[in-house]
Amino acid sequence: MSASPSALRPLPRPGVLAIEAYVPGKSAAPGVAKIHKLSSNETPLGPSALAVEALQAEAGTLALYPDGTSARLREAIGARYGLDPARIVCGAGSDELLTLLALAFVGPGDEGIFSEHGFLVYRIAILTAGGTPVVAPETDLTADVDAILAAVTPRTRIVYLANPNNPTGTYLPFDEVRRLHAGLPGNVLLVLDGAYAEYVRANDYSAGLELALEAGNVVMTRTFSKIHGLAAQRIGWMVGPEPVVDALNRIRGPFNLSAGAIAAGAAAIADDAHVAAAVAHNDEWLAWLTREVEALGLTVTPSVGNFLLVHFSDTPGRTAAEADAHLTRAGVIVRRVTAYGLPDALRVTVGSAESNRAFVAALTDFLRGAGA
Ligand SMILES: Cc1ncc(COP(=O)(O)O)c(C=O)c1O
Repeated sequence: MSASPSALRPLPRPGVLAIEAYVPGKSAAPGVAKIHKLSSNETPLGPSALAVEALQAEAGTLALYPDGTSARLREAIGARYGLDPARIVCGAGSDELLTLLALAFVGPGDEGIFSEHGFLVYRIAILTAGGTPVVAPETDLTADVDAILAAVTPRTRIVYLANPNNPTGTYLPFDEVRRLHAGLPGNVLLVLDGAYAEYVRANDYSAGLELALEAGNVVMTRTFSKIHGLAAQRIGWMVGPEPVVDALNRIRGPFNLSAGAIAAGAAAIADDAHVAAAVAHNDEWLAWLTREVEALGLTVTPSVGNFLLVHFSDTPGRTAAEADAHLTRAGVIVRRVTAYGLPDALRVTVGSAESNRAFVAALTDFLRGAGA
């Protein structure tokens, strides 16, 4: 006998309810007047003034649909990196592109691999597509090429690698990325997520643009949310082989970027001076924060990004949870990373000079109090 129509309910596809919805970094500390938000890897320098101007100039055309091909933005990105704009797809943040890649290339019964402390959106994207997430163990909080390759099966369709990784701040040298690519079957798409690429100062690093241009199964994703200071506008982009670009253009929303995002992004990518200032600020303060936190006796994972991972002990009074509570009371908002399998660590974004000092002062205070 079939169920009565009134007993029927819409059911999400298998896998959807296995998703733990992404919880963004906190942005408020109740009752505290002055907030230092160091929880979402945003830039303390804000956006380029040219980007703000370009965004404001769009205010007169809000009733009109934007250009669904984001041509102005793709051309600006192409000019900045010497790329054919036809090989670029823009997204509402790189998050959208990471999800669209799974939707286009992963289906029920397929597997997608990411590393143990990899960015949370990869799991969500694979499950959204109906696939099975496969976690590759890391070594020293760093992606491990051999472990990723060992996780590959005939069902593998996609491998996500954040390089550098969030929340660990560690990276793989480019020869390791090439070794990973060389070990993958040609039908497995390698997604190189370079959300923090601009900050990296290591000589052996590459975000992977050359691989995305030469290989048939590699894409590189980038974002305007971090160094360009445009997180609120939701702008990301991807470069890759023509068939991958074609697949994404078929499934993406027809107007997936707003007119303001297109204009602001195009202006931001051309403002090299603003990016250089952000890199210089990060160089100085990432080193300062690392030194200061280590001087307090805590361990810091060496980071090449615009954030650092600080490790706490599990001794009551000195835990990451208690440090987080203390910092919040002091108006310093950092990121707990329990969802990343790191319950004893906190991730701290490199902020303004004032915020960085406020963080170190509050942490010093916490450790003194805890030791009393
Ligand atoms: C590794 C990594 N990739 C991608 C993103 C997504 O950035 P957006 O969607 O803002 O472009 C983030 C943001 O935190 C990230 O850390």
